[in-house]
Amino acid sequence: MKILAIESSCDETAAAVVEDGRRIISNIIATQVEEHKLYGGVVPEIASRRHCESIVGVVDEALEKAEMKLDDIDAVAVTYAPGLIGALLVGVNFAKGLAFASGKPLIPVHHIKGHIAANYIAHPELEPPYICLAASGGHSQIMRVESYTKFSTVGRTMDDAAGEAFDKAARAMGFPYPGGLHIDKASQSGDPKKYRLPRPHTAEPYDFSFSGLKTNVINLVHNAEQKGEQLDINSLAASFQYTVADILTSKFVAAAKEFGYKTAALAGGVAANSGLRSMLEERCAAGGIKLYIPPIALCGDNAAMIGSQAYYEYTEAGITADGSLNAAATLPL
Ligand code: KG4
Ligand code: ZN
Repeated sequence: MKILAIESSCDETAAAVVEDGRRIISNIIATQVEEHKLYGGVVPEIASRRHCESIVGVVDEALEKAEMKLDDIDAVAVTYAPGLIGALLVGVNFAKGLAFASGKPLIPVHHIKGHIAANYIAHPELEPPYICLAASGGHSQIMRVESYTKFSTVGRTMDDAAGEAFDKAARAMGFPYPGGLHIDKASQSGDPKKYRLPRPHTAEPYDFSFSGLKTNVINLVHNAEQKGEQLDINSLAASFQYTVADILTSKFVAAAKEFGYKTAALAGGVAANSGLRSMLEERCAAGGIKLYIPPIALCGDNAAMIGSQAYYEYTEAGITADGSLNAAATLPL
């Protein structure tokens, strides 16, 4: 089954053709990051406008690269939630138009389920059940993946998502948007033990809280500026990255052990973080847990992951949508 998938939830306009949930035939991404960088973060109105401008070309290119016409496709899939509402609506309306005009089924996909499905493309042997850590700009969640379409949440963030904390801490450190990658790079030449940062307490053992940690970094930078002191930014970046990775990894591995999982997966934009990847790999291996991580290219937003999840939504759960499909800014898994 060949699915044409569309993703426009944030600042990437993406389209892909994916076969049977596991094989990428084409995967096109038009990023707007350079423009949003000017403002230090995503400007929703600009994002919507750029999606409108790019979507026809991106979808055309995905079909062209796949050497297919719309007729060769079996279904159209689209991210409908969660994300920036104006941005999502561009993809949803375009997908609705394509599906309606071609008479193909329309499959709505939850963005975070798509991030998790990136693992199916990279790892043909991975099958549910397993436990998953999804960490992106908008989510930090530990989930039991019971089947391809059934998920239950074990823990979630009480405030900021991990990626959001990375981006805000990076901004205070003087890095451009999106800061996660810059913190990652700066960390390579920093001392992760130089700055002791707080590990916020949560009432529930597998919930997260990153807001206090982020504020601590921002205050540290501002205090140093006021006193005219020089901070070791590479070491501050390394200390921050180490702390976030340690919080995510400790809770995730503890949850995997408590619920008896021997298979685990990582997903979302923050899954690209080198410190998190290596710490998780090490601690999962030590705990006898087989860990799956998507390649860096499939960690960030893309449409191939949406095409993968769509295949399972359709074949496992029979999910389709009609012309009444709407986008939603927030939506639980
Ligand atoms: O999944 P994603 O592409 O978009 C959302 O669904 O939110 O995640 C974007 C987030 C941003 O906060 C970005 O800074 C973060 O992922 N990110 C990273 C790295 N690469 C991207 N964070 C830490 N280290 C990285 N290497
Ligand atoms: Zn995402």
